[in-house]
Order: sequence, then structure tokens, then C-alpha cells
Amino acid sequence: MAMAENIANSFLNDFAKTKQGNDTIFSCWARYQEAIAQGHDAVNGTIGALLEDDGSLAINQTVDEFVRNSPPIEIAAYAPLKGLPEFLDLAVTLALGDARDELEEIGLCHTATASPGGSGALYLAAANYADRGSKVLLRDRHWGPYDGFLAGCGLDIATYPLLSGDSGLDLAGLESSLRELSTSQTKIMSWLNDPAHNPTGLSLTADERMSVLKAFADAAMGNENIGYTLLIDAAYHLYAEEPHGWAETITDALHDGLEWPANLLLTFAISLSKSHTVYGLRGGALVTIHPDQSVVDRITTVMGVTGRQTWSASSRLAQYSIAKIHSNQESGAAWSDEKVRMTEILKQRRKLFISACNRLNVSINPTHDGFFAWLEHDNPQTIVDSCAEDQVYLVPLKGGVRIGLCAIPTDKIERVAESLSNALNV
Ligand SMILES: Cc1ncc(COP(=O)(O)O)c(C=O)c1O
Repeated sequence: MAMAENIANSFLNDFAKTKQGNDTIFSCWARYQEAIAQGHDAVNGTIGALLEDDGSLAINQTVDEFVRNSPPIEIAAYAPLKGLPEFLDLAVTLALGDARDELEEIGLCHTATASPGGSGALYLAAANYADRGSKVLLRDRHWGPYDGFLAGCGLDIATYPLLSGDSGLDLAGLESSLRELSTSQTKIMSWLNDPAHNPTGLSLTADERMSVLKAFADAAMGNENIGYTLLIDAAYHLYAEEPHGWAETITDALHDGLEWPANLLLTFAISLSKSHTVYGLRGGALVTIHPDQSVVDRITTVMGVTGRQTWSASSRLAQYSIAKIHSNQESGAAWSDEKVRMTEILKQRRKLFISACNRLNVSINPTHDGFFAWLEHDNPQTIVDSCAEDQVYLVPLKGGVRIGLCAIPTDKIERVAESLSNALNV
């Protein structure tokens, strides 16, 4: 075996050699499936897809209908390299919501590039908005694949804490990280998965968003030779209470007199995977905003060329069918009704989970929106193993246990809280 590995290493470059093992989440899911195969009454809290209470994948029926009824040419043909124009326009609306018109009136310019899912959008940002060898700023609890996207682009990571006491934002941690990076880098990018953070379900409040925006604007104003990019990873935003809170915060800040520094860029990684339940169709976009049209024009070119050199064009079918749904009021409303129904499922599961955890003294993290909840713990594997003995399957990650509310049937939620309580009390 060791011998075979050595032979393989003779073909692999140094970065390839760092790639190890299975994705934790998928291996936990496999463990759950194995339990089911053995006939156990097992609970699936592992995967990051919304499941109905019967365990089947929740599928937005409007999307399904439009995908199936797309003309053959829209399935077979390439999309334009940067994306179908009507989809790119929709991507801006998905990022900014109703605030879009006002932001355009104030003079903000935007550009969008289609990508294979939100992951593709994150790759576009990693490949272009940071210097190789520099650090990208993340919160200490973040979606695991970020590490790989960044490492693949030759980037390191700096982190600040997810929480500060009861607050969902460690502003002091963010500000001091920005100050520190500003002494050694000429480009600083930060990724923030908000609202409905994976893996905790945390969403920032309007005040917290404003503090983050101001921290970046202040840093940019104080360091005119450094380019700052704040990336909002909006993978779950359409399931949140305030889906377009960031665009609203930007609007409020500009109304309150914020002078947008020329060296500040804001960018949204949009994913259709969850919002439109087309995980496998690979639809997404990177939407970037800045007050100067020449800046966004240049970004349009750079992102288009990056896509061309990486995956060629993105899926035409995803772009065509989703744009078509939203071009018509009736189908747009039908999609939205389904999405509201799914949001309600998540809300109900979260409410039950929080109240059971409170009752059982399971001290979970603050959790507000989206697919997940989180138990901070120094030894997550022991908790996950103990829960597995109760046939409850969860995911151990760095610093805690991810509870996939999206996958757990509503009537099994209490069982998960009880199992966590048992695990904590042994
Ligand atoms: C935090 C976060 N960002 C981005 C994505 C990207 O998803 P996709 O590439 O499937 O659109 C995901 C998917 O799980 C995610 O959890």
C-alpha cells in the first residue's frame, strides 16, 4: 500500500499530495446509510440538502417543471462564456433584491459572471481577488471546502472568532485582523457566509452588518493603497428572514452619508443549488458591485476569461430555466410559494430543536436561519460517536458538531436533542 502511494506520488505535484481522504460530511452520510442498510431506525443529520419529512429530497416543483420543459437547444447548446444575459440580470436581483433599483439610482454599478454553483463563484473570487501567497480572512467556523478552494489558488487563511460573548459578530476580532493584514498585504479579501451561516445557522443583525461594512470602509479609507474585497457567500440567503439584508445595509449606509472608498469592492457568491433545489445542475454567479463602471467592466473581462480557462462555459440549462421562471410573474410566484413552504419546514425544525435543547440544557450556538445548527465542542468526534450509538448521525467538524436540520425529519428533532444531551452527560 505504502509502495503504491509512493508510485502515485511520483506523478503528483506537491499540492496534489496534500489532498487526503474522504470529505467528512460524505463519510458521515455513508455511515448513516450503512445503519439504514442494517435495518436501524437511524436519523440523518448529516447532509446539506433539504429533505422532506419522509427523507426524500425536497424539490421545488416549479423549477422541476421548467427544467423538464426547456427546449432541446437550451439543453444542448453552450451558454455564452460569461453567462446568458437574462440570467446575469437575474443574478444581480438575487443578490440585491428590492434594494437593487435604489442602489442603481444612487450610482452603484454591478457585474455578474455565471459559474458552476456557488463553489464556482467562490473559485472566481479566490482566483482573482487576492495575491497568491496572501491570507484570506474568514471566521474561525466556516464551510470546510473554503480551505481547499483557497489552497488551490495558493492562498492562506487568517481567522477571527465567530462569536463574541452573546453577539453574533466579533467586531473587535474583525477590526484587529483587518489592521494586522493591512500591515503586510496590498490586497485583502474576506469571505463571510451570511445570512444563514453554514455550519451554525447564524445570521448577523442589521446593526452587525452595518458594523462589518463600516469596518471594511474604514480600513479602506485608512489604507488607500490596499484593495479590500468583502465577499458575501449567499449560498442560503433566500431561506433567511432577511434574504437581502446586505443590500439593505449598503443602501442605508449610503443614505447615511457613507462615501464608498474607491478601493473597496463588494461581491456576492450566488448559488442556485439550495434556493432553486438544483444542486446537481451547477448554477450560480459571482455578482460584484462598485461605484465605478470602469472597475466593473474590467472585472467582467477578468471573470469571463477565468471561467473560460477553468470550466469553459457554465450550465446553460440551469441559467435558461431559472431565468425563464423569474421572467414571468406567475411562475416566479409559484417558485416563491414552494420556497416559502420549504422555509417553513426549516423554521419549524429549528424552533423545535432550540426549545428541546433549552429544556435539556444542551448549549447550542445561536442559530437563526437556513439549513444547520451547531454545538461548539472541543471533542466533536466523541459527541458524534455517542450520538451514533443512539442511531443519530451528525457531522464532527473543527470546533464542534454540525446538526443538519435540513435533513432531519421534524418528528425526529427531539430525539436528536436528547441524544446530544446524553452525549454531553456521559
Ligand atoms: C457555505 C456554502 N457556500 C457555498 C456553497 C456552494 O454550493 P454549490 O456549489 O452547490 O452551489 C455551499 C454548499 O453547500 C455552502 O454550504
